[in-house]
Amino acid sequence: MVETVPAGRFHHQRLDIRRWIPAFVSSHRTLFTTLWVFVFLSLFVWQRNLIDGFSFFGRTVTKPMPKLRPVAFNLTDFGAVGDGVTVNTEAFERAVLAISKLGKKGGGQLNVPPGRWLTAPFNLTSHMTLFLAEDAEILGIQDEKYWPLMPPLPSYGYGREHPGPRYGSLIHGQNLKDLVITGHNGTINGQGQTWWKKYRQKLLNYTRGPLVQIMWSSDIVITNITLRDSPFWTLHPYDCKNVTIRNVTILAPVYEAPNTDGIDPDSCEDMVIEDCYISVGDDAIAIKSGWDQYGISYGRPSRNILIRNLVVRSMVSAGVSIGSEMSGGVSNVTVENLLVWSSRRAVRIKTAPGRDYNEHPDDNYDRKAFPILEDISFTGVHGQGVRVPVRIHGSSEIPVRNVTFRDMSVGLTYKKKHIFQCAFVYGRVIGTVFPAPCENLDRCDEQERLVKRSASQNLTDIDYDF
Ligand SMILES: *[C@@H]1O[C@H](CO)[C@@H](O)[C@H](O)[C@H]1NC(C)=O
Ligand SMILES: *[C@@H]1O[C@H](CO)[C@@H](O)[C@H](O)[C@H]1NC(C)=O
Ligand SMILES: *[C@@H]1O[C@H](CO)[C@@H](O)[C@H](O)[C@H]1NC(C)=O
Ligand SMILES: *[C@@H]1O[C@H](CO)[C@@H](O)[C@H](O)[C@H]1NC(C)=O
Ligand SMILES: *[C@@H]1O[C@H](CO)[C@@H](O)[C@H](O)[C@H]1NC(C)=O
Ligand SMILES: *[C@@H]1O[C@H](CO)[C@@H](O)[C@H](O)[C@H]1NC(C)=O
Ligand SMILES: *[C@@H]1O[C@H](CO)[C@@H](O)[C@H](O)[C@H]1NC(C)=O
Ligand SMILES: *[C@@H]1O[C@H](CO)[C@@H](O)[C@H](O)[C@H]1NC(C)=O
Ligand SMILES: *[C@@H]1O[C@H](CO)[C@@H](O)[C@H](O)[C@H]1NC(C)=O
Ligand SMILES: *[C@@H]1O[C@H](CO)[C@@H](O)[C@H](O)[C@H]1NC(C)=O
Repeated sequence: MVETVPAGRFHHQRLDIRRWIPAFVSSHRTLFTTLWVFVFLSLFVWQRNLIDGFSFFGRTVTKPMPKLRPVAFNLTDFGAVGDGVTVNTEAFERAVLAISKLGKKGGGQLNVPPGRWLTAPFNLTSHMTLFLAEDAEILGIQDEKYWPLMPPLPSYGYGREHPGPRYGSLIHGQNLKDLVITGHNGTINGQGQTWWKKYRQKLLNYTRGPLVQIMWSSDIVITNITLRDSPFWTLHPYDCKNVTIRNVTILAPVYEAPNTDGIDPDSCEDMVIEDCYISVGDDAIAIKSGWDQYGISYGRPSRNILIRNLVVRSMVSAGVSIGSEMSGGVSNVTVENLLVWSSRRAVRIKTAPGRDYNEHPDDNYDRKAFPILEDISFTGVHGQGVRVPVRIHGSSEIPVRNVTFRDMSVGLTYKKKHIFQCAFVYGRVIGTVFPAPCENLDRCDEQERLVKRSASQNLTDIDYDF
């Protein structure tokens, strides 16, 4: 049995994982234990230049919007008013309907001009480009009566926070092909504050909706925009293929914005997430594949996922997580050039027999469904101001196999015992690794020749008081 973690808070750390290749193979009989891998690393304050829009005699001149499809519409053509008060749902729906008729002719583009465009949830269509001008902001309406209910995701069986249906997402799409959401850094703003408050006060009867959720779709590109203050997970591609997310800023308060994950690739394959800045109230990225017996029977893994050149922050959870819902399996994930700053954890893999947090959709989960956790490699891990650089908590039922550390140096805040924590871990360290690795791991020299074989992979040194 594996426990969970009250990890402490870590200020001013930096994580720089150049290559991290975990491959988790889960078959129908192989799911779940609580395994936590924490790597906490160093810190560079990240800054970016603001070069967007320019001022001309005190007046902001809007960049012209490029024409990326044969036909482009202006949202105002459909009667929208960008005053932050008028509800523009019908304008968005009419625009999408017009574009849905252009599929055979290369599709259509919807330009959202500068302004504050309040709307209830609406659906996108195939062969569509949604283009947000600079200073264009799509605002999610806060009254939940405007949010339609949808059936639970098949791989979850439940809403997630409540049984039964769930609220849909503000911007939604199902069974789409060739969708682009882009712009000159315009914003989709979920105005989640009222949702977070109602959630905490237990006033909601259904699971909150994500900001953008695209399901059963392929050839999706999301670039050059900002997503902020989602009611729930921010960007949720579900059972999608060929998804690119590039140069996107995702923001939510780092505290008291519950479950505002940045990006949740869920049963997705062939996905790239790059050049993004994410600072949110839960995991910056959480790779998932369904929940307990529902995820196992849906049986769609997340795989072939490349994550690179990100700057992320998560005070509540982690920069990059795998799980906790990962019953459909996760494999072939590469994380390169990840900078995690002022965060609770850098990388976190969370699972359990059934799942973690002792939280399950219902009592019918398979207690014998153990995960296989193997082939995890950490290379070029550097950090500072870190309390527990590594905690790999395997168990006798779920040993963690073939873990490799290479080129690691992490500056510590406390130099006591229980620094490099391991239990039921098989693997090796190559070359010099600081701090000194646990006895569970084999030691190899720089040329990967075995220097000392571990006699005791099952040794347990886990201390959550750190
Ligand atoms: C886009 O807008 C966000 C939010 O205003 C800002 O933080 C970010 O720096 C902007 N990105 C670029 C590339 O200008
Ligand atoms: C869209 O319509 C608004 C209002 O009519 C106008 O100010 C704006 O210039 C139009 N934008 C484009 C790109 O046509
Ligand atoms: C979006 O499309 C899905 C699938 O057709 C449907 O269930 C849902 O009600 C639609 N949502 C809205 C807001 O129209
Ligand atoms: C990122 O997007 C911003 C606008 O949002 C744009 O100004 C910038 O050039 C983009 N950067 C890259 C590398 O595409
Ligand atoms: C939740 O259900 C209760 C009891 O049916 C109802 O009074 C309340 O208005 C509902 N709340 C929401 C936000 O739908
Ligand atoms: C993936 O999607 C992009 C954008 O729509 C498209 O250009 C590309 O051809 C797709 N790749 C594959 C392998 O289908
Ligand atoms: C994002 O912005 C960059 C820089 O302006 C541009 O080169 C790129 O084509 C944009 N991406 C999309 C999909 O429009
Ligand atoms: C693993 O994922 C990468 C993308 O990150 C892809 O190029 C590669 O083909 C995948 N490997 C396998 C065996 O599918
Ligand atoms: C161990 O894992 C690495 C990836 O981290 C993989 O390349 C290698 O083949 C695995 N070794 C064995 C013996 O499975
Ligand atoms: C270590 O644990 C594994 C199960 O995870 C077990 O098969 C093995 O016998 C144990 N080895 C020792 C030396 O106790």
